[in-house]
Amino acid sequence: MTAPPQPIRRSDARPPTPPAVGVRLAGTGHALPETRLTNADLERVLDTSDEWIVQRTGIRERRVCRRERGEGVHSLALDAARAALADARVDPADLDLVILSSVTGDTLVPATSCRIAADLGADRAGAFDLAAACSGFVYGLNIAHDLIRGGAYRTICVIGCDAMSRIVDPSDRRTVILFGDAAGAAVLRPTDDTSKGVLAQCMHADGSRWRDLYLPHSRLDIPDGDDPDDTPLHCLRMRGREVYKFAVITFSDLIDETLAKAGLVADDIDLFIAHQSNARILESARERFGLPEQKMYVNIDRYGNSSAGSVPLCLSELRAAGRVGDGNLVMFVAFGAGLTWASSLWRV
Ligand code: UT7
Repeated sequence: MTAPPQPIRRSDARPPTPPAVGVRLAGTGHALPETRLTNADLERVLDTSDEWIVQRTGIRERRVCRRERGEGVHSLALDAARAALADARVDPADLDLVILSSVTGDTLVPATSCRIAADLGADRAGAFDLAAACSGFVYGLNIAHDLIRGGAYRTICVIGCDAMSRIVDPSDRRTVILFGDAAGAAVLRPTDDTSKGVLAQCMHADGSRWRDLYLPHSRLDIPDGDDPDDTPLHCLRMRGREVYKFAVITFSDLIDETLAKAGLVADDIDLFIAHQSNARILESARERFGLPEQKMYVNIDRYGNSSAGSVPLCLSELRAAGRVGDGNLVMFVAFGAGLTWASSLWRV
């Protein structure tokens, strides 16, 4: 006789909790095209002036890729990733994942990150592109951090890179003066020091405001109310003043939101690394929180607004200058097309 079936009993054992792990910025690097486009260069071809550009934006020059030299997101992002891996002393073969934040990748299919991973020799890494415009690197940093914290991955390279010169109309003085090309990268790894990593993060989007900054590929992409002939297709259209107002308000709100999540005040933060959109936007946030100049890094005078490249470029310069100390509290803040905005508060 067979024994009657036993009722299924639930195990009292809980699923194993992942080991508590910290996350560290193991290495950083950046890459810039050699070609400089100065305000004087722009004065020669456009109805603009050095005085207007410096007063309204703080920009004196920007870097631009030369396509005939093969420069673009692939080459810049690759160089930045190589520099970050060398700084971290990580063998590319040990990478688990390559995330490229960019809206100007050389190809949409395949994702530019796939070619970068292959050229790095990251043979077993997954790779994907992330499109969150100027907020892209901060989105990528948050995602990579949580993948490592959760225990699924160990070594991730996050790259932020845009070649905005590819998508601005060279005859449009409203955009060409603002944007530049740049790449920065960070390698993230786990650490036994569980105090290190993200203390608070935010990622937001408001797609109802997509018209404020967009790139149409067809006349059908141009919404009612926008002049179809204002800017050529495949070139960026920006309602500068609208984006400016959004950025000033969002910048402060985002810092407040992130500090509240972490239970900290602005004074506690050692360094703010913010998207370099316009020197006046950075200055208004600095004043609003009463921060000393050295706590809000500014390099927009030399590189312009390099979209997803701007935050990791700042990070790489600051680390190279020894200004990101062990245990420092560093807040990354960015905002851009989408509209999107994001922050990441780290103990590094
Ligand atoms: O990364 C996120 C994406 N973008 C941003 O963060 C950009 C945010 N916006 C800005 O930074 C500013 O709005 C700009 C720098 C783009 C423009 O500055 P603004 O003070 O908002 O100028 P505006 O667009 O209101 O234009 C003021 C005047 C206009 O002339 P009128 O209509 O007053 O006669 C423009 O035609 O300035 C004129 N203008 C220029 N003049 C000389 C616009 N661009 C230029 C120029 N040179 N390059």
